[in-house]
Amino acid sequence: MQTILVTGASGFVGSRFLKRWAAEYNILAPSHAELDITDDASVERYFQMHSPSVVLHLAAISNTGYCEQNPDESYEVNTVAALRMARAAAACYAKFVFFSSDQVYNGNLEYGLLNEEVAVAPETVYAKHKLLAEQLVAQVHPDAVILRATWMYDNASEMPVHPNFVLNINKAIEERLPVTFSVREFRGITWVREVVEFLPATFNLMPGVYNFGAENRLNTYETACCYFEMLAPQVKCDAVIIADADRYPEHERNISISNRKISDASNGAIFFNDTLDGLRIFIENNRRSY
Ligand SMILES: NC(=O)c1ccc[n+]([C@@H]2O[C@H](COP(=O)([O-])OP(=O)(O)OC[C@H]3O[C@@H](n4cnc5c(N)ncnc54)[C@H](OP(=O)(O)O)[C@@H]3O)[C@@H](O)[C@H]2O)c1
Repeated sequence: MQTILVTGASGFVGSRFLKRWAAEYNILAPSHAELDITDDASVERYFQMHSPSVVLHLAAISNTGYCEQNPDESYEVNTVAALRMARAAAACYAKFVFFSSDQVYNGNLEYGLLNEEVAVAPETVYAKHKLLAEQLVAQVHPDAVILRATWMYDNASEMPVHPNFVLNINKAIEERLPVTFSVREFRGITWVREVVEFLPATFNLMPGVYNFGAENRLNTYETACCYFEMLAPQVKCDAVIIADADRYPEHERNISISNRKISDASNGAIFFNDTLDGLRIFIENNRRSY
């Protein structure tokens, strides 16, 4: 059995990875207290005691607004600690799989689905720190696999969850309170179950940067209307989903990814549903309607 060290195992993605794959892998899932990724001694001690063959590095400050308000903390956790973990993984010859974000594209002005070749110049603290982490990780661990994940969703369950696309809309429907979505934002939105399902296949990828999630050609408002209509075809969408044309005044925010590279590199083993198809399958699985 491969031994996989998962950082951030108490988080949204990590907890689901653990639940899904615990029977197939020997998973090390230290808590924040057992392995503080911002602390040299803690990381050194942990790697002296354990020799994982894969490090799946999910731990981060994932709240982009919090990062904007706390840039020093964001830098320490999202950049410096990622570098520290990549170094430690390299020293014990472990594969390093690092979660970055589609937000690295948030300064791009191109339209359409963005591939990994486009030059990026992110505009926000979180995105800048993730990009810098990507670069430093690749320097110290040339075998690293870097995944640019999209916005992920799941429903509220016994597993950890934070506000996400479907929860925001479900809540708006339940409370009959309108929710706004930008007509100037384009992004893939992915069911976290697909992400978790494909993660083991990423351990065998050639090193490099890969977009990792659903494609989407619609803007976020259109995507929200489509999801709403699948859920509640009998209710008028514009009673709940409101178009926001003011957000992102400087330029439209297009962070929609193309996922062709990872599909080709994995010979089709990793192939995400398009955002709307993923939402449809999600609804069917959860049998939720209003
Ligand atoms: N969620 C999304 O939609 C999304 C989208 C794109 C990319 N990503 C990226 O995907 C990865 C997983 O995201 P997620 O949503 O699962 O994150 P999350 O739910 O916010 O979980 C973050 C995890 O990191 C841990 N952590 C934070 N600081 C730590 C430290 N100093 N030492 C050890 N552990 C620490 C947290 O533990 P404690 O809570 O105990 O501190 C928690 O387990 C992250 O890298 C995130 O940036 C997420």
